[in-house]
Amino acid sequence: MKVNQRHYQTIWYHDGEVHMINQLLLPFHFAVFKTKTYEETCTAIKTMIVRGAGAIGAAAGFAMAQAARTAPESGYLDYITKAANVIKCSRPTAYNLFYTVEAVFAAALNGKKQAEDVARKLASENIEDGRQIGLHGLSLIKPDMHILTHCNAGWLAFVDWGSALAPIFQASRKGLNPFVWVGETRPRGQGARLTAWELYNEGIQHAIVADNAVASLMTNGKIDMVITGADRIALNGDTANKTGTLDRAILAHYFRIPFFVAAPGSTFDPLCETGAGIPIESRDQDEVKYQEGPDESDVIRRINVTNPASTAINPAFDITPASLINGIVTEKGIINPCRSDILQFLKID
Ligand code: MRU
Repeated sequence: MKVNQRHYQTIWYHDGEVHMINQLLLPFHFAVFKTKTYEETCTAIKTMIVRGAGAIGAAAGFAMAQAARTAPESGYLDYITKAANVIKCSRPTAYNLFYTVEAVFAAALNGKKQAEDVARKLASENIEDGRQIGLHGLSLIKPDMHILTHCNAGWLAFVDWGSALAPIFQASRKGLNPFVWVGETRPRGQGARLTAWELYNEGIQHAIVADNAVASLMTNGKIDMVITGADRIALNGDTANKTGTLDRAILAHYFRIPFFVAAPGSTFDPLCETGAGIPIESRDQDEVKYQEGPDESDVIRRINVTNPASTAINPAFDITPASLINGIVTEKGIINPCRSDILQFLKID
C-alpha cells in the first residue's frame, strides 16, 4: 500500500521487533507502532492496534518468533509452549491467528532462526495470497459496477492487498471504474475509517453508508454485488465475519444480488465442520457506547453517544450460512461454499 507515495506493508518484522501501522489512529493520524516482546505483540492484537484476520495472523506468527528468539536455552520448550497458548488467547475468532501460531511453533521446535524464517515466509505468502485473490476475483467485476463491502478486508486487514478489496484494487488498476459502497461497520467503524481511507488513497470512487441503509440501496437497484472478507470458514462453507455480514447476506439473497466471500486458505478451519463450531468474540460494551474522533486540536477523544445508564452487548462477529454465499474467492480460484470443494481446495482427503 502507498501512503504519501511511500510503499508500506501493514506489518513487518525486523531484528526481533514487530512493526505495524497503528490502526487505532487511522484515518486521522499515520504512525508505526513497534513491539519488542511477544507479550507486547499480544497486547497490540487485543487492543486492535493491528486487526483484520490476515494481519492478526501475521502478528501472531511474528509474536511466536519473538517468543522463540527470547526463550531461554534451558526450559526452551516450556517457554515457547506457554507463549503459543498466550498468543492463541489474544483473539478467538480469526482462524489465521491459530494457523500461523501452529506453523511457527512447529518451526520453533527446530530452532529460533527457523521460527523467524517461517514467520517471515507466512507473511510473504499472505501478500501473494491477496494478490492472487485480487486476480481471481477480477472476473466478477464488470465495468462501472457498484459493489457493497463490509468492515475492512483491504490492505490493513492483511500484510498487503487484502481479501475482499483486492479484486476491487485490481479492477480499478485495469480501468473498470468500480464504485464501492462502504458499510460504516458499527461499533468500531472499520468501514467508515479504514476501508474508506484505503479507497481514498487508491483513488477509487466510494461512499460511506450507514449500516442500516443497505436494504434501501438494494431495493433501489444501487448495489450490483456484495463482497466481504472472512475471519473463519468452516468445512461446510459457513463463514464468520464482522457482525452485520449476515444482515447483508440475507438482504442480498432477498434481492437476488450476488454475495461473495474472499479469503485465503489460512482462514479455513479444517477442524470445524459447521459455523456452529466457530467461537464468536464478545467485546467490551464501551465499543458500542462510545465513539471517537479528533477534537479541534487534532487529539483523538472518546465521547459517550448512548444513554449513560444503559448497558450494551457487543458480539463482534456473526455466521453467514453457506446457503447465502454464491462463491468464495481464494488464492487458487473461486470455489463453491460446500464441503467437497473446500476439502479439495485444502487438499484434505
Ligand atoms: O475485529 P476486526 O476488525 O479484526 O474484524 C475482522 C475484520 O476485519 C473483518 O471481519 C473482515 O471482513 C475480515 S478480515 C479480512
